[in-house]
This record gives sequence, C-alpha cells and structure tokens, in this order.
Amino acid sequence: KRRLAVMTSGGDAQGMNPAVRAVVRTALHYNADIYAIYEGYRGLIEGGDRIRPATFDDVSGILNRGGTVIGTARSLEFRERSGRLKAVHNLVEKGIDRLVVIGGDGSLSGADLLRREWSSLINELVETGKIDQETADRHPALMITGLVGSIDNDMIGTDMTIGADSALHRIVEAIDSISSTAASHQRSFIVEVMGRHCGYLALMSAIAGGADYVFIPENPPAPGWETHLCAQISNVRASGRRNSIVVVAEGAQDSDHNPIDSDYIRQVLEDRLGEDTRVTILGHVQRGGAPSAFDRSMSSQQGFAAVEEVLSATADTVPSIIGVQHNRVAKAPLMESVAKTHELASLIAAKDYDTALTLRGDSYTE
Ligand code: F6P
Repeated sequence: KRRLAVMTSGGDAQGMNPAVRAVVRTALHYNADIYAIYEGYRGLIEGGDRIRPATFDDVSGILNRGGTVIGTARSLEFRERSGRLKAVHNLVEKGIDRLVVIGGDGSLSGADLLRREWSSLINELVETGKIDQETADRHPALMITGLVGSIDNDMIGTDMTIGADSALHRIVEAIDSISSTAASHQRSFIVEVMGRHCGYLALMSAIAGGADYVFIPENPPAPGWETHLCAQISNVRASGRRNSIVVVAEGAQDSDHNPIDSDYIRQVLEDRLGEDTRVTILGHVQRGGAPSAFDRSMSSQQGFAAVEEVLSATADTVPSIIGVQHNRVAKAPLMESVAKTHELASLIAAKDYDTALTLRGDSYTE
C-alpha cells in the first residue's frame, strides 16, 4: 500500500488547511496511507508522534480556519545534512516515501534536496546500522509534490500562491477602514503591507483600495522621488479629496537600493506638505483569519491534484508544483519554478525590469 505524508512549512498562509484537508481525504479516497507531519521540517526531524496517521475526521472543521492546524516552523536544522539524515530515518521507519509539501520556495527547495540526497542518506543509515538493508530496499526513492503556500504571491509557475487572495482581502478591508477615519480628519495614511521581496500585495491592494500612491520593490523610483510623491498628494488634495492613502510594500526601495521606510514617507508629507499623517503597519493580521472562498476552493482542488501527482510518481518523475494558471489547476516543474523565481529576484536587483516582466509572463506552460 502506498504511504504518503503531508506537511506545511515556512510562514503560514490562509488556505493551507483546506489544502491539507484535501490531501488527506484524497489519499484516503485512493486507499493510500496518509500521515500528517506536525510542525514542518522541525517535526520531520523530531519524528515520534510528530509524524502520525491522519484520518478523515482529523481534518474535519478546518476548511474555514486560518493558519495551519498541523503547525509550521522555519527549521535551521533541516539545512544541515545531519538534520536531513534524521528526517529520512524518521520517514523510512514509518514506511513513508511520498511527500506533499505546502510552503514557499525555500521549503519546496528543501524537499527537493531531500529527494536528491535520499539514496545517499539511506546508504548512510544502513552503514551506520540505523536501518537494515531490507528497509532500505523497500524505499529506493522519495517522491515529492509541492503546493505553494505564501501570502506574498512570490513564486513563478503559479498565478496565485495559497493565501495571497485572503491576505489581499484583509489589506483591502483595512484600507477601507483607514479611509473613513482618514477622511474624517482630512489625514494622509501610509499603509505598510507584507510581501518581503514581492510587490503583488501592495500593488493589487493599492488598485483595489483606491490608494493614491504605491511603492513596490519591482518598480523602484529614482532618488528624489519625494518631489513626485508630494506633487501627486497635493493634486489629490486640490481636487477635493479629504484623505490620501500611500501603500508601501515592506521591501520597497529606491533605484539605489535604499529602503523606503514608512516613517520616512510620513516625515516627508508632514514636512513638505504640512499633511497630518499617520502610519499603519498591518503586519501579521494579513496572514491571519479565515481563508477567502478562492483560497478554500483553489487549495482544495490543488490538494486533490497533488495527491494524484505524488501517487503516480516514480523515482524518475521530475517533481512538480501544483498551482493555478489561467484560473485552472496546473502543474509546473518544481525546481525550474524555484530557479526562475530566484532569477527574477536577481533581475530586479540588477534593475533589468523589462526582462523581469518577460520572465514572469513567459513562465507558464500552456
Ligand atoms: O513570506 C511571508 C511573510 O509573511 C512575508 O510577507 C513577511 O516578510 C514574512 O513572512 C514575515 O515572516 P515572520 O512571520 O517569520 O516574521
């Protein structure tokens, strides 16, 4: 009987629970044994009851819950070969050689590393007497499939990462709330949103929330941008608007790579325009709360597809991520997607924005 495990890793994201639920129930539907790994790679390394069978009922009532009920962690130990050796030991002891990993690019690359090192780690376990040859022979390879969980929408190979839609909803609701208090006092607000190196949440929330200005890492303004910002905000005020909203991605910077800090923008608007200005850093509220309808339904479909993919995989299968392209569940090669995501970051760092945009647009498998 085929035996697989599901885990969530890295920053949590709304929609991870629907994905876990779908993975568990689809595996049971296909009569496979399904285990849940608790606390991400940390739990994988600790083993014991951190890796335990999941039942249909274990994943009841989680479809509408934020975060991940099986826990997640950012594990340093997994970056060491010794940590990965323990992980492989725990997996083979439980007879698991298929893995669905839900996480960001780092977590997914980690799973691929484990897959590539599998034989040599297994050999080491045999040589050191930790497992016998028969156990090793039963598990010649690790098969993996990834689902991209990240509110940032920062991965090439999928149009939307799991959690991005819910986080965007959270931000737009916050902008709506801020707009009303801002208008009452005729204030300006700087709203700082998450997204590490990716401006998706900032840009989309600025459009959907009707903001007046946005700073994103992918489109860094030249130093001296303060003049343009002030002209825009003055125009907004001159046209009769009672408030102004500036959205800033946490990773925003100018074209000389100087960070653009929310508090500095506040200072600029106050000093140059005399605007009564406040800063709201939304922080982790963006990652919390119930998943949106899209994150629930799309993650459920992706979880289903991930199980079909990992159950049909063989030792030679090139691992995939299951994502969404043109509103349909779609798969893309895992490591190629990770590599392109990193290439995108390098292109942006090198200020080659045209190639960066082309890379993002050209990356889809039709
Ligand atoms: O990658 C998801 C994310 O929420 C980023 O937007 C943010 O920069 C980061 O995680 C925060 O990480 P932590 O929760 O570990 O502080």
